[in-house]
Amino acid sequence: MAKNQFDYSAIESILDKYPKEEVSTIAILQDVQEQYNYLPREVFPYIARAIGVSEAKLYGVATFYENFSLEPKGKYVIRCCDGTACHVRGSIPILERLRSELGLSESKKTTDDLNFTVETVSCLGACGLAPVMTVNGVTHGAMTPDKAAQLLNELKEELAKEAQA
Ligand code: FES
Repeated sequence: MAKNQFDYSAIESILDKYPKEEVSTIAILQDVQEQYNYLPREVFPYIARAIGVSEAKLYGVATFYENFSLEPKGKYVIRCCDGTACHVRGSIPILERLRSELGLSESKKTTDDLNFTVETVSCLGACGLAPVMTVNGVTHGAMTPDKAAQLLNELKEELAKEAQA
């Protein structure tokens, strides 16, 4: 497959699961996001045609919901809480440690190898465990910069093992 050619077969299978109507918009976008870990721009005209809505409307839905992403995300998505409870218990040094270990920043959230994304979030709803971060939705509480770095090393080891398998 040429690099600039998008493979629509996965999108076809997703579309086959739902009525070809506007009411299916969110379900379809959720499945696409699950498949690719983000919403590739190529899918928008395709889905819009299939279910009879405008591309603008689809983009509107995709940008309204925080869980949808228009940018590629890493295999491991780390969300660092910077809500009030976590902030006062030292979330910023944790975030800074993660970013510096991975060469990321406020503007660069995903590593070039697409292994890690580091994002901030305003409250993960687990304030009693502050400071909190999640890795692919799994909560890790009472974090410190060192614990975060250790967790990162464990994830890197996982990736190395997968690469050898
Ligand atoms: S402020 Fe961090 S979990 Fe609520």
